[in-house]
Amino acid sequence: MGYDAQFRVWRGDVDGGALQDYSIPVNEGEVVLDIIHRLQATQAPDLAVRWNCKAGKCGSCSAEVNGRPRLLCMTRMSTFTQDEVVTVTPLRTFPVIRDLVTDVSYNYLKAREVPSFTPPPGLAPGEYRMKQIDVERSQEFRKCIECFLCQNTCHVVRDHEDNKAAFSGPRYFIRVAELEMHPLDTADRRNASQDEFGLGLCNITKCCTEVCPEGIKITDNAIIPMKERVVDHRYDPLVWLGNKLFRRG
Ligand code: SF4
Ligand code: SF4
Ligand code: FES
Repeated sequence: MGYDAQFRVWRGDVDGGALQDYSIPVNEGEVVLDIIHRLQATQAPDLAVRWNCKAGKCGSCSAEVNGRPRLLCMTRMSTFTQDEVVTVTPLRTFPVIRDLVTDVSYNYLKAREVPSFTPPPGLAPGEYRMKQIDVERSQEFRKCIECFLCQNTCHVVRDHEDNKAAFSGPRYFIRVAELEMHPLDTADRRNASQDEFGLGLCNITKCCTEVCPEGIKITDNAIIPMKERVVDHRYDPLVWLGNKLFRRG
């Protein structure tokens, strides 16, 4: 059953902008991205929005709906009452390019800083063998669709632009955890996690976990185990002695 929804959409660019009001038809079963597309088709042809799959799998339609970080294509209109104003704004943590499109290149810079998978020398692709239990552990992290909702939500950078240089963010903590837990990986990223990626700035509030559309337990399964590994490595006297005597690498 259709009705007219009240939408408030942020319009503007790097020089500034404002919320603009629209009244727009909604049909049964639609998601917020459908309404944004209808706005483009009927009232605001120059409205900028990034999207690709409309299936919650490409991670490109991230924005904030009524102040909550969401995928526009996975936010059902049925979650709002018919008289509720639906406010759609760009991700707050990244610079606006135009309207709902932000510049997420911070994340790609951070991705490049994580040392890649380092198998033992001489082990060729195709010769990798690992137990199913180890495969399953990293599979949770491999579900990441790089929507960057967790990065956008994390208070360490959301309100503190100057922390960005020293903080990789939850998406890259799961990447580091995945590699550190990989049985065939020989690199050691524990010191870098603390000193370069800013793991110590995370105070395990779990806000990143709450917004992850893939349901990845970022804090419990990646961040806390990585913090434990760093503490063991740096502050356990027996491990410290072992590291002195049998230095890895
Ligand atoms: S748990 Fe850590 S990484 Fe996640 S939102 Fe909180 S401070 Fe940020
Ligand atoms: S961990 Fe979750 S919230 Fe973060 S980028 Fe990946 S899919 Fe998105
Ligand atoms: S359009 Fe691909 S996740 Fe929304």
